[in-house]
Amino acid sequence: MSRRKLIYEGKAKILYEGPERNTMVQYFKDDATAFNNEKKAIIEGKGVLNNRISEFIFNQLNDVGLETHLIKRLNMREQLIKSCEVLPIEFVVRNIAAGSIVNRLGLNEGSILKNPVVEYYYKNDALGDPIVTIEHIKINDWANEEEIKKATKISLRINDVLSGLFRAVGIKLVDFKLEFGRYWNNEEKKIILVDEISPDTCRLWDTKNEKKLDKDRFRKDLGGLIEAYQEVAKRLGIMPEGTNIKEIKTGISKTIKLKKS
Ligand code: TMP
Repeated sequence: MSRRKLIYEGKAKILYEGPERNTMVQYFKDDATAFNNEKKAIIEGKGVLNNRISEFIFNQLNDVGLETHLIKRLNMREQLIKSCEVLPIEFVVRNIAAGSIVNRLGLNEGSILKNPVVEYYYKNDALGDPIVTIEHIKINDWANEEEIKKATKISLRINDVLSGLFRAVGIKLVDFKLEFGRYWNNEEKKIILVDEISPDTCRLWDTKNEKKLDKDRFRKDLGGLIEAYQEVAKRLGIMPEGTNIKEIKTGISKTIKLKKS
């Protein structure tokens, strides 16, 4: 899509100028990174699966009144989105101890947290995305109190919706990361969900055997990442049985029958 004006290139996605005012096109790459870009790989087909899974989840959220930046999926790798001013904060919601909280607080991996916990991280590669407090966010003007409160409340509501959605298909939602943006609709400013929700940004464990169905397969060199992401898509009912993995990898499948197109 080189004919479009590039706005921003991140580790896993690219943003291009959209066809209309206040819109952008979000392109999902196959690049996988971990540990602040120290570990890198290109995993063929990952972008196609994340585009489809994230579209499905964002539509579910839009349907229950939790506004997101998604307007519509355009094709195998791209979505049309609302243009927002993204807060430089990652909101992480945790239900079960895994990943960084295990080492930071000395918890046992897999232990259930008494209640869901929201954590804040400052998006800054040079600093390695440090965990921060609400006070840190306020004194640096990364967001104001009202914005943080709103985004935190929405994060917990998203946790409720997604925990139920995944539980119904035999998957535990261990934790996930969200990003929010300021969106101006005429004079009114709203805080809405941006970026993506996919196995790149969640920890998803099979309820029966706790098999990891997310990016930890890459972080921990477990292999089978595409197969795991495909399993998530299949369980969510957005990829029919028998879809050829090669076609996902090339991103030009004609046999993938999408529910909503
Ligand atoms: P953590 O346990 O490494 O702090 O990660 C918490 C959750 O956030 C986990 O579901 C993975 C997700 N995450 C991202 O989406 N991007 C990131 O850069 C990091 C560090 C975590």
